[in-house]
Amino acid sequence: MINVGIVGVSGYSGKEVLELLLKHSQARVTYVSANNSHGKIEDIWPQFAGRTRLNCQRFDIEKAKKLCDLIFLAVPHTISMKITPKLLKAGLRVIDLSGDYRLKTSSLYKKWYKTTHQDLSNLKKATYGLPELYREEIKKSNLIANPGCYPTAALIGLLPLATTNSQLISSITIDAKSGVSGAGRKASTQLLFGELNENFKAYKVLKHQHAPEIDLYLSKVASKLKKIEFVPHLLPINRGILETIYIRCNKTIKLKDIHQIYKRFYKTEPFVRILPLSNQPELKNVQHTNFCDIGLAANEEKNLLVLTSVIDNLVKGAAGQAVQNMNIMNNFKETESLL
Ligand SMILES: NC(=O)c1ccc[n+]([C@@H]2O[C@H](COP(=O)([O-])OP(=O)(O)OC[C@H]3O[C@@H](n4cnc5c(N)ncnc54)[C@H](OP(=O)(O)O)[C@@H]3O)[C@@H](O)[C@H]2O)c1
Repeated sequence: MINVGIVGVSGYSGKEVLELLLKHSQARVTYVSANNSHGKIEDIWPQFAGRTRLNCQRFDIEKAKKLCDLIFLAVPHTISMKITPKLLKAGLRVIDLSGDYRLKTSSLYKKWYKTTHQDLSNLKKATYGLPELYREEIKKSNLIANPGCYPTAALIGLLPLATTNSQLISSITIDAKSGVSGAGRKASTQLLFGELNENFKAYKVLKHQHAPEIDLYLSKVASKLKKIEFVPHLLPINRGILETIYIRCNKTIKLKDIHQIYKRFYKTEPFVRILPLSNQPELKNVQHTNFCDIGLAANEEKNLLVLTSVIDNLVKGAAGQAVQNMNIMNNFKETESLL
């Protein structure tokens, strides 16, 4: 049994981590904290009434050190990098859900997050927590940079082709759509029901901080892939990400062969489902789950492959993947509390 803390429990991702951990047989939540939201958890999230007596407190490093073996940081970027070095120094392990430790150089971080990184030594040491790519490294790591929601869907979708047939790829266009919980629980005019409802729009076009994350981790398996474009859109729904990924190939492709490659690549992965060629993924099949569903289609005459990848942004795109990483780090059953 390990003792676990959640910082940012009053936010969407932190709440989801708590929801998953209350069902976990080998992890006990001993400490929860937030910034402005304090008091009984059931006053912050009424659905936890009768399920836990945890009290949410302002973050106190000494308490966290005393009460926990491992901490989930479900806080905005820049907050994580202030807390993480102190937690690691005290011997705790950290799973950071923010973007603070995903991009591996200070210049890349500054370019996309518009601020200077303050913990460069741990930036280099952090392990990117995509189990489908780095399971062995995650087992040995004490700092996990939990992947972003859009990169999770994109990378799981693209890894099989990029790993086995990168020379086939001319260009990749990722058309991504996310539900509004992806923006967190903070108040914002753009996220009001009246603005979102019956609306649909692109945002941060070619400027989203998840674009370099996708480029970086695809380059680990296919260094020559250059032409990758990513455009996010905001869906008027609560949760879920659907990415339609257009891959232009420079040679004739056979959809059946590519489907076989995908099935083989993810044969032993507990949370990736490659759909039959007659089916396309749907958000409702992955919402509230840790699954990533992938569908494939092609126009063989035009050398065009279209992948569709869907996840729940708060589960496989955040809290579920974070708990999966905790399970791997502790040699627990990888699917514990996630199936
Ligand atoms: N939402 C998603 O789909 C998603 C997916 C992947 C990754 N992420 C990442 O996960 C992190 C959390 O996202 P979220 O969407 O859950 O955000 P959120 O709903 O806005 O929640 C943020 C949480 O952080 C707390 N917080 C803010 N400043 C803090 C500080 N200085 N010290 C301690 N706690 C502090 C807030 O507390 P108060 O309520 O008291 O202000 C709140 O509990 C972000 O870095 C985000 O990029 C989110």
